[in-house]
Amino acid sequence: MAAEDRPTVVLGVTGSVAAFKAADIAAYLRRAGMRVRPVMTAAAQRFVTPLTLSALAGEEALVDLWSQGERALHLELARADLWVVAPATADFLARAAAGMADDLLTAGLLARGVGRPVLLAPAMEGELWRHPKTQENLARLLGWGHTVIGPVVGPLASGGSGMGRMAAVDDVVALALDLLSRRDLAGLRLVVTAGPTREAVDAVRYVGNRSSGRMGYALARRARARGAEVTLVSGPVALSPPFGVRHVAVETAQEMADAVRAAVAEADAVVAAAAVADYRPAAPRADKLRRGAERIRLELVRTADVLATAAAVPGREGRVLVGFAAEVGDPAASALDKCVRKGLDLCVGNDIADPDSTFGSATDRVVLAFPDGALERLPLLPKEEVADRILDRVRDLWQERRRS
Ligand SMILES: Cc1cc2nc3c(=O)[nH]c(=O)nc-3n(C[C@H](O)[C@H](O)[C@H](O)COP(=O)(O)O)c2cc1C
Repeated sequence: MAAEDRPTVVLGVTGSVAAFKAADIAAYLRRAGMRVRPVMTAAAQRFVTPLTLSALAGEEALVDLWSQGERALHLELARADLWVVAPATADFLARAAAGMADDLLTAGLLARGVGRPVLLAPAMEGELWRHPKTQENLARLLGWGHTVIGPVVGPLASGGSGMGRMAAVDDVVALALDLLSRRDLAGLRLVVTAGPTREAVDAVRYVGNRSSGRMGYALARRARARGAEVTLVSGPVALSPPFGVRHVAVETAQEMADAVRAAVAEADAVVAAAAVADYRPAAPRADKLRRGAERIRLELVRTADVLATAAAVPGREGRVLVGFAAEVGDPAASALDKCVRKGLDLCVGNDIADPDSTFGSATDRVVLAFPDGALERLPLLPKEEVADRILDRVRDLWQERRRS
């Protein structure tokens, strides 16, 4: 592809020890099909050489505001599809927030104005990060609509550990790509449930299930990337909440139902991807059950129905409700049945006996069931793409409701 056909990303690099990570960001963005134009401050060049950035970006690393004379390089860079500054130092945040323009990076950012996507990934020692002036600068940059990722808690260059480490390179790249993607869900307020629930047997043990949460998290991540305001109600999983999503951690079916009830009143759509326990131990013990008798009985009682709880919140007519049906074997019939029985707008069925489409897999082969009996079988797709297909349907239904 010609350089001009690719989306252009300006990758600003400032003088932090984390500057070496910008080399990976440049390489990943380039591999994702972006034209990457590195811009380095003078301090950044003390940490990594322009040669490293140039080699990995496949473009000359730019360091000098004056290098193209009257052609005003900063104005050309300002028009890029996206700006990413990673790492962003405290000093850079201060200069950007003050509207200074004394080097190529700050001059370009100022010329970019507000309202065009800019992603900042701060990296600094905790003291610098916590300083009220840094926080004030950050608030101003956020107020202009810039997106900030991190920093996160972790090992710092000083040898200590704490808040200030730059967000993971993968997360910076993923968010950068998201910022370049479509925004067709802007204005949609969405509640997503994800993961398993755990129902206590005693102080140590629980009844749970094999749900990994990957489908629900993919839905939340894609919806957020497409502009939705997302609340993710999640059972215990080994996944980090997607950036920019409101995350409510729960454990039991009852807690999930309560969290959903609280969130639904303000929602335009609910996508219930969690694998909620249907039964829980009738009388969980506060102590630990000891090994003893050869055979014991565990009495189970029905749990709260999360979908029914969501459906019962006033305003159902204007709200899109999507459920999931996991089945061993062809899920079409049970997805259709669940769709009608629970009054859903869409039910997503998947066959958990299929190793490509089961708990924890990276892919899914699902069937979409609609209340009028229609079925749509999707091919085997990565979970993120399945999420996008489901969200396309949610978008269409939401827009229809808004019109009527
Ligand atoms: C070894 C070393 C490491 C540094 N690491 C950071 C850092 O991680 N974050 C930060 O905000 N400043 C850091 N600084 C300070 C900045 O380099 C300094 O404020 C510089 O003026 C930043 O310039 P720039 O924002 O134009 O790149 C570090 C300085 C030194 C000497």
